Amino acid sequence: MSKPIFVLNGPNLNLLGVREPHIYGRSTLADVENSCAAHAKRLGHEIVFRQTNHEGELITWVQEARTDACGLVLNPAGYGHTSIALLDALKSLEIPIVECHLSNPAAREAFRRHTYVSLAASGVVAGFGPASYTLALDAVNGLLARS
Ligand code: DQA
Repeated sequence: MSKPIFVLNGPNLNLLGVREPHIYGRSTLADVENSCAAHAKRLGHEIVFRQTNHEGELITWVQEARTDACGLVLNPAGYGHTSIALLDALKSLEIPIVECHLSNPAAREAFRRHTYVSLAASGVVAGFGPASYTLALDAVNGLLARS
């Protein structure tokens, strides 16, 4: 049995559906998890889907992905813009990493235009709402097929 793709989510994403719905939409994180699980299954993968509001916990899960995952989809949320420690953890991975955002941070406030995570990711999918996640899974799957 091959390893799962980890889909990790950072702070405030537990509030999806009620948090700034004009930006993030009405889908809940449970809806996103269900569509990721179904899409991954079609691709022949399983997922481990998690969310945390704590930077250290997110870093621990990234470290776990080093040995227990075949690929990583990461929506770092606000930590993407601030966390060098998260970047350092990501740099220890040798699996495909795809950064994912519901909104398009490049089209928002200036402070969202830079993410540390991008320095370690193979690529970024942003701006497609929940579909950003399934597109990110496609990207991980494509990278795995090439490796
Ligand atoms: C986000 C974009 C980030 O700038 C923001 O801090 C988030 C969510 C997104 O999915 O669009 O919390 O990662």
